[in-house]
Amino acid sequence: MIDRAVIKLPGMKKMLGLLAGLAVLQAIFIIGQAYTIASAITGLWEGGTLQEQTKWILLFICVYAGRHFVTFLRDLLLDDYAYEQASHLRNELLQKIFRMGPQVVQQEGTGNMTTMALDGINQVENYIHLILAKIMNMMIIPWMLLVVIFMLDWQSGAVLLIVFPLIIIFMIILGYAAQSKADKQYAAFQVLSNHFIDSLRGIDTLKLFGLSKGYGKSIFHTSERFRKATMSTLKVAILSTFALDFFTTLSVAVVAVLLGLRLINGVILLFPALTVLILAPEYFLPIRDFSSDYHATLDGKNAMTAVNSVLTHPEKEIAQKEIGAWTNESQLAIENLSFRYEDQLALDQLNVAVSGYKKIGIIGMSGSGKSTLINILSGFLHPEDGTIKLSNNQIDSFAQQSWQKQLIYIPQNPYVFQLSLKENVAFYHPEATLAEIQQAIEVAGLSELVAELPEGIETPLGEGARTLSGGQAQRIALARAFLDHSRKILLLDEPTAHLDIETEVELKERMLPLMNDRLVFFATHRLHWMKEMDYILVMDKGQIVEQGTLEELQANGAAFVRLSQQMRGREDE
Ligand SMILES: Nc1ncnc2c1ncn2[C@@H]1O[C@H](COP(=O)(O)OP(=O)(O)OP(=O)(O)O)[C@@H](O)[C@H]1O
Ligand SMILES: [Mg+2]
Repeated sequence: MIDRAVIKLPGMKKMLGLLAGLAVLQAIFIIGQAYTIASAITGLWEGGTLQEQTKWILLFICVYAGRHFVTFLRDLLLDDYAYEQASHLRNELLQKIFRMGPQVVQQEGTGNMTTMALDGINQVENYIHLILAKIMNMMIIPWMLLVVIFMLDWQSGAVLLIVFPLIIIFMIILGYAAQSKADKQYAAFQVLSNHFIDSLRGIDTLKLFGLSKGYGKSIFHTSERFRKATMSTLKVAILSTFALDFFTTLSVAVVAVLLGLRLINGVILLFPALTVLILAPEYFLPIRDFSSDYHATLDGKNAMTAVNSVLTHPEKEIAQKEIGAWTNESQLAIENLSFRYEDQLALDQLNVAVSGYKKIGIIGMSGSGKSTLINILSGFLHPEDGTIKLSNNQIDSFAQQSWQKQLIYIPQNPYVFQLSLKENVAFYHPEATLAEIQQAIEVAGLSELVAELPEGIETPLGEGARTLSGGQAQRIALARAFLDHSRKILLLDEPTAHLDIETEVELKERMLPLMNDRLVFFATHRLHWMKEMDYILVMDKGQIVEQGTLEELQANGAAFVRLSQQMRGREDE
């Protein structure tokens, strides 16, 4: 009934113990309630005055208040507990996503991940809150009441006892039906989230090709599917609530009729009959409560399963080694390194050896594996095969904290955060002084942009504020790099791809000093950078087809020369 994942939550045993205690207390109060009110009424029936019943009435008020106080206390406890667990789960989820990197987000879908981390966790919170209390109540309260009912009148007790398993069997059958409907509903919801985010992100492409209307229709159909799945889940939910209410009311009615008949015949006294009659609906209340919320909690259960499937996603255990700071004497040797994206081999048996402060150019046609190599070097992706020797350490992957702390990485499409220009530039160095930031902005060629912006370097950027062009975003990434003087390894993935040739040449002059006294890996399509490189890797279809200095490659007259001819043809256009 309760998910195994819920039982495994930290502090669950203590919580269940507390809830069980509260349920026992609540049962006692419910019995007290029935006992006092029945005593008062019987007293009146027997000809007593209202004053004589004051004691019972006061007692009734006390137990009534006690019962509600227990409910209040339980909600308070569960509120805190569920909130704590939900934020813990959200934290773990985010950490796991960060650890596994962008690939898993791509696999699961951005929309799905977003709704999982936001709505999904809220649903889990609601689920934990509801399910724990309801289950505990259902497991304790009816049985305590039944004992009292049996003591007062065994015949009513027998009727109630027989009905209970019938209701449970009935609920299990409907529960299964509801579960499969809810599974379908959740799957439809995941598709809808991904589809929606996907369309939002691709809206300009869709508009440009005049496909936005068609896509709008397709979103409409996806959401219709979700609506239908929701409605059919609700149908089962409403049907089962109706059936349960019907059965329990009928059972209470049967008990009432039997009691009434025996009262008329004088077989039973008023007090036990009245107490049993008051307790009968209370006997069914926990199970009705449970089933009315059961369907509401199915969403939470599904969300919890989805979150857990991400949390238990196998993670490659990377042994961490202490890698010393990269100096002019350091050495890196990669042998037979291969990498594949699921079914596609993206890097095939690479061999590279570099040492000291060098500028390594990586050149190759689109799709040749440049970004993949840079991502391996940055530790984002883990090689499938091969050996890496880094300053006398043999490592399985570049995902080493002591290596990553030395990196500056400028990706192909840098991300501009929803912060001001100043904060964006100082993102990795919030301690930088204003003068340093301004200098980095100036060197990265962003001064013109700053002059245009309404609030200068304080202007908010990113989504929902001022968006930048691809080239401007790359310059922000460059400015971030200019601000850093301590990191000695620079990974650049086409940092000038979005710039026109003139701007690029101007920026090149400023970027070159940044590359001095550093180990630089520079992936690019643009040939003119190769003149500045100390060593060049020529890539084609995932392989390094040639490597050496520019002079060596030119003298070889092989892959590099062929590639240059092809590229020059394009650059001249
Ligand atoms: N996430 C991914 N999943 C599957 N295949 C991928 C993924 N990313 C890249 N690839 C494939 O791996 C190969 C190498 O891609 P990569 O991005 O490294 O090329 P590149 O040389 O950087 O190209 P470009 O110059 O266009 O940036 C390509 O065939 C590409 O289709
Ligand atoms: Mg690339």
